[in-house]
Order: sequence, then structure tokens, then C-alpha cells
Amino acid sequence: MTVKPTVLQELPVDLQREKLPRHVAVIMDGNGRWAKTRGMPRIMGHRRGVDALKDLLRCCRDWGIPALTAYAFSTENWGRPLEEVEFLMTLFERILHQELAEMMAENVKIRFVGNLDALPRSLYAEIEKSMIDTENNRGTQFTVATNYGGRQEILQACRAIATQVQQGTLEPDSIDETLFASHLYTHGIPDPDLLIRTSGEMRISNFLLWQMAYSEIYITDTLWPDFDRTEFHRALTDYQQRQRRFGKV
Ligand code: IPE
Ligand code: IPE
Ligand code: MG
Repeated sequence: MTVKPTVLQELPVDLQREKLPRHVAVIMDGNGRWAKTRGMPRIMGHRRGVDALKDLLRCCRDWGIPALTAYAFSTENWGRPLEEVEFLMTLFERILHQELAEMMAENVKIRFVGNLDALPRSLYAEIEKSMIDTENNRGTQFTVATNYGGRQEILQACRAIATQVQQGTLEPDSIDETLFASHLYTHGIPDPDLLIRTSGEMRISNFLLWQMAYSEIYITDTLWPDFDRTEFHRALTDYQQRQRRFGKV
């Protein structure tokens, strides 16, 4: 007798491989509420949230989705209690250190986007190491938005472009969408086809404002630590039923 696998390792048969999103972005929300409903401190939710993210990354590899972007910490999240912020920074650093070898083994290419200079030095060092080490990997392109804000990203691009104009190396007429996007943190990564937000909130909370112009949005009430392959399957099924028109008829 064969044992039925508990996780969906293969692409579910009802999903069409050729209609999979090339890039999935996730707003991993609801960690605090997940913990609260269990009478635990919020940080326990963040801990479990890491497990959910690790499995989603593997699932993207298993099912053939080339790019995943996760919102880990927003520029607004500094406004949380210091204890929670410090816990998150330490958690990111520890997990990154712990998972790097496995990401190498699984051929993951990791990139962090956001205002990274403002992060604690020891976290920044881990981030830099992970990006350098995985630079030539050709498996899943995994992007982690940390100290990321969509408005801040657009502003830093504007500043860089304005400087070039001021120096006389760029004509205002040459500023087009391609040039602008090349100044964003996400340059070289295709725009997300699908945005998933957990915990039922109907907002984008300053995430990938430019890049999500035509992303399909899927919102689930499931809290992030409970987001598993079955939930992801549901999101992909929904996505495959969408008719993407890009303004055309
Ligand atoms: C998302 O979960 C994780 C981060 C923002 C770091 P939350 O911490 O926002 O959880 P809720 O929304 O309070 O439940
Ligand atoms: C969005 O979640 C940011 C991350 C998931 C990192 P928040 O919990 O910070 O968003 P709001 O405050 O509900 O808009
Ligand atoms: Mg939240």
C-alpha cells in the first residue's frame, strides 16, 4: 500500500501549466491575529509565518512558478512596539542564516528589496551575503520586501532620475516607463501576475505600487500561518479563471 502524501508535491491536475502566473506576490498578513486566537504572543504568529513562507517557496519550485515576492516588513511597520520590531529583525537574520545552505541546494536566487541601508548592520550583512552567494542560481527568483514602501521606492527612483537630468546626462523626454522601472528595486523582475493577500484585508498597504498596475488580486480570509498548498491551489484555480484584458476588449 502506498502512503498518500500529505502535501501536494506535483502540480494539481486541474491547473493548466501554461496558464500559471510567472510571478506571484504575497502580502503575508494575519500573523498577530493567528497568535491571538490561540492565546499566544504575536511573535509566535511571526514564527509560524516563516514556516508558511518556506513551504510556499518550495511549492513554487515544485509547481513551476518562476518568481515569488513576499512582503516581510513595510516602511510603516517601524511604528509597531519596539519589542516586536526587534523580534522581527532578529528572526529575519536567524532564518536567513539558517536557510542559506538550503536555498543554495535548491538553486534559489534571493533578492531583498527596500531601503536596506536602514536595517540593523548584522541583518544587512546576512542579506548581502545571501544575495551574493545566490546570484548565479537559476531556480526560483525569490524576492523579499524588507523595509519596503512603494511610495519610498518611487521617490528614490525620481531622485536618481532627477540627478541625471540635473547633471545633463539624461533628457526629460527620454524618461519612459522602461527607464523608470529600471530605477526601481525590482528591476529585472517581471511585474507580478498575481497578488495574494491573506487575513481578509482589502488593501495593498504600500506594496509594489508601480508594479501591480495590472496584477490580478486574490484575497483570502485565511491567516498567513495557515496559508498552505491547498490554499495556494485555491488561489491559482481562481487566477486561472480570470480574464486578463489589460484595458483591451
Ligand atoms: C503580518 O502579520 C506580518 C508583518 C506585518 C510583519 P501582522 O503582524 O500584520 O498580523 P496582524 O495583521 O496583526 O494579525
Ligand atoms: C502589510 O501588513 C505589511 C506586511 C505584510 C509586511 P500590515 O499588517 O502592516 O498592513 P496594514 O497595517 O493592515 O495595512
Ligand atoms: Mg497585519
